Amino acid sequence: MKIKVFTIFPEMLRPMLSESILGRAIDAGYLEVELIDIRPYADNKHKNTDDYPFGGGAGMVMLAQPIVDAFADNTPPDFHGKRIYMSPRGRRLNQKIVEELSGYDELMILCGHYEGVDQRALDTCIDEELSIGDYVLTGGELAALVVIDAVSRLIPGVLGSDESAGDESFTTGLLEYPQYTRPRDFRGMEAPEVLLSGHHANILKWQREQALKITLQNRPDLLETAPLTKKDREYLALLQVEKEENEAIEK
Ligand code: ADE
Repeated sequence: MKIKVFTIFPEMLRPMLSESILGRAIDAGYLEVELIDIRPYADNKHKNTDDYPFGGGAGMVMLAQPIVDAFADNTPPDFHGKRIYMSPRGRRLNQKIVEELSGYDELMILCGHYEGVDQRALDTCIDEELSIGDYVLTGGELAALVVIDAVSRLIPGVLGSDESAGDESFTTGLLEYPQYTRPRDFRGMEAPEVLLSGHHANILKWQREQALKITLQNRPDLLETAPLTKKDREYLALLQVEKEENEAIEK
C-alpha cells in the first residue's frame, strides 16, 4: 500500500515511520509512505500557508491554493484510492473503517492545522473526513499516524505470525482478555492456573469469559452488537447476578 501524507510539518511524522513494526513494514516494501510538504506549493512571496478567517473568529485558516496544487501535483491520472482529511468533525474511526481503508492500494491523507482548512480545498481534494475521537488535537499529524499505524498492521505480511491480528480487541467484537507471560509467580502474584494447565478447551473458556467480563465492565455498549453464543449470554447473566449481590452487600 502507498500512503501520501500532505502536511506543513513532515518532520513530525518521520520518527514514527522509522521504528518498530512500521519501520520494518516500510523497509520490507509492504508499505510506502511519502511525506509531502505543502509549504513549497504556496505561490505567495513569503510561502504562507494560512490566513485570517473570513467572517472573523479566532485562529487562522489554511489556504486552499497550496493544498489544491500539492494534491494536483501528486495525484497520478490512474488514482483509485481514497483522499482523507483528518478532522475532529469527521466520521469517527473504528476497526471496521480501518479494515475498509486497508483494502485500498493508495491513500492520501491531509493534515490540517490552526482553525481548519479553507472549505474549497476540501471540496476539491477530499473524499472523506475522519476523526480519531471526540477531542481536539493541535493538528492532524498524530491522527494521520494513528490511521497509518492501524491500517498498516492489516496489510498481509506486516505482522509476523506471532503478532497476528486475529484475536485482539474489536476484531472479535469484544475487548481482549488479559495476557500473562513468565515468570509464573511475579512478586507473589500468580498467573492464572488454568493458563498453565495445558487444557486447551478450559483455556479458551477462561479467555472468552475474561473478554466478556472486561467488555461488560469497560464497554458494555459493545455487547449490543458483538456476536454472542448462548453460553456467553449465560455467563453475562451470571456476572449480572454477582454484581447485584455485591451491590446489595455494599448497601
Ligand atoms: N485534528 C484535530 N483533532 C483531530 C481529531 N480528533 N481527529 C482527527 N484529526 C484531528
